[in-house]
Amino acid sequence: MKAQAATFQTLPLSPALGAEIRGLDLSRPIDAPTVAALRAAWLEHLVLVFRGQELDVESQARFAGYFGETSDTQSPDERSMKHNPDRRVLLITNIRENGKPISFLPDGELQFHSDSAFLERPLMATVLYAVEIPDRGGETLFANAYRAYEALDAEVKERLAGRRAFHVYDYDTQVKTGRLDRDGLPQAVHPVFRTHPETGRKAVYVNRLMTEEILDLPPSDSASALETLFAAIEHPDCVYEHRWRKGDLIIWDNRCAQHARRDFPADRTRLMRRIGIAGDVPV
Ligand code: SIN
Repeated sequence: MKAQAATFQTLPLSPALGAEIRGLDLSRPIDAPTVAALRAAWLEHLVLVFRGQELDVESQARFAGYFGETSDTQSPDERSMKHNPDRRVLLITNIRENGKPISFLPDGELQFHSDSAFLERPLMATVLYAVEIPDRGGETLFANAYRAYEALDAEVKERLAGRRAFHVYDYDTQVKTGRLDRDGLPQAVHPVFRTHPETGRKAVYVNRLMTEEILDLPPSDSASALETLFAAIEHPDCVYEHRWRKGDLIIWDNRCAQHARRDFPADRTRLMRRIGIAGDVPV
């Protein structure tokens, strides 16, 4: 298939972050100069939205490959492997079989997070494709974590500079215990503020869904500092809310953006296909 040498349009979606890209058909390959221009738009806008795409797994994976190496899904279980044997793909859905979810991510609302921050090498980016969406709810909110960092008081930046935080995968409870010995659960320690390796900008890298504690602080100081950082991420000035349509493809940069999901009715099907792009150890 011949690669497209396309000029595309970039339409910012909010003052905070996000741009819609028009003029590209992602079911066809894209040539190298177009990929380079797309990557530059992505570094500037953090989240790129492509509407009305008809994509199979291979074309979604080819698109992901323009940005980095696709990553096999972490901790797949029997249920999700049966419905989706391709290790590159994680289905995010409320579809059930015999009353049991076919995917291991929870339904409904999800708090702000950066994908797989509980791993030593979290995903650099995520490519999510809307296969089926509910007629209401299930919107994804994206937050600009550079902006959140830049809006912090100088005193907060200084007090937390160089500190590290503990993250754990425990979506089932979504309850903070403050404990550092969460047996058997994937967990990692990362800088509270990370520096983006390509832009050199600093971003908040703690999140409400996975971050338990800032290390080497008294528990109450850690809890109040985390609350300050979560509030900075969730501030409306930092957020763009995406209302999905079937055929939307979004790529976001987990190094400088966080995302959350609104609740949706349990009797409406939501089916998204996720492909992750491998990342480095955050610094
Ligand atoms: C995710 O956190 O990766 C899922 C986002 C979504 O379902 O909108």
